[in-house]
Amino acid sequence: MKEKLASIKQAALAALASPEADVEELRIRFLGKKGELTAVLRGMGALSAEERPVIGQLANEVRAEIEQAISARMAEQKAAAAEARLKAERLDVTMPGKASPVGHIHPLTRVQRELEDIFIGMGFRIVEGPEVEYDYYNFQALNIPENHPARDTQDTFYITDNILLRSQTSPVQVRAMEKIQPPIRIISPGRVYRSDAVDATHSPLFHQLEGLVVDKGITMGDLKGMLETFAKRLFGEQTALRLRPHHFPFTEPSAEVDVSCFVCGGKGCRLCKGEGWIEILGAGMVHPFVLSNCGIDPEVYSGFAFGLGIERIVMTKYGIDDMRHLYENDVRFLEQF
Ligand code: PHE
Repeated sequence: MKEKLASIKQAALAALASPEADVEELRIRFLGKKGELTAVLRGMGALSAEERPVIGQLANEVRAEIEQAISARMAEQKAAAAEARLKAERLDVTMPGKASPVGHIHPLTRVQRELEDIFIGMGFRIVEGPEVEYDYYNFQALNIPENHPARDTQDTFYITDNILLRSQTSPVQVRAMEKIQPPIRIISPGRVYRSDAVDATHSPLFHQLEGLVVDKGITMGDLKGMLETFAKRLFGEQTALRLRPHHFPFTEPSAEVDVSCFVCGGKGCRLCKGEGWIEILGAGMVHPFVLSNCGIDPEVYSGFAFGLGIERIVMTKYGIDDMRHLYENDVRFLEQF
């Protein structure tokens, strides 16, 4: 039996020493309930009383040695596996990252926000209104009755005979005047629609920003002073302003407003087409009819209004020669801003 134990021990230690040793399998094979060592211990009943403790002790020693070899091997394999995993999952934190491109604000939105900031700085409040509008607010209340020629230049899209896509943001002023009593100091930016064919300077959808001030004693001088401040903030301190007489049904008197060209300073260049001036907006004193249409007494109050196309400002500011660039979402164009 001694020899049997010795050979079990040898076999077990040799098997465990092999690099591919399946330790759990070997444990079952040598130490398990049906294992080789257990089989030997079972046979101990046949031994004499003197032999039994000797063999018993020897068997325990063999068992202890095999157990020790098993746990040593297990620890080794665990360490090797951990090492292998560390190698496989190695992370080089000094490697440069993959940059994911970040977009930025569209030039139209950026200029709209810039305009809003300037007017908010002058005490205006932003008011918004519906893009689907009643004929009354878009035209009639603004002194443009049915069949008025001004409807031609602002032909738009009709939902029904008296509901349309607003052709200007002026209806927002009408709605505001109906609701709030003077002093009123508001701007209304937003989308407007006109039934125009698409070309370099026209689009059926574009953006306007209009402003309205109504209070006691408001004059054309207030309008000019405010616009001058606005133009200097937008185009620079050296900017000069020019008002040319014009006609709008909802203002009287009315003017078209030019700024001195910020590229050539007024000498004439490509941007201003040799004029030295660039038209940026329309303005005037709110027509008394419009005030009374909105429940404001024109004998007590007066006001001025102005309106500009945001696309035109963007194109002027950045020297863009075709409005379509602003809507086509070609990143090669947009990336430049
Ligand atoms: N709503 C006018 C337009 O679209 C612009 C404007 C507004 C002119 C206010 C004068 C005063 O043409």
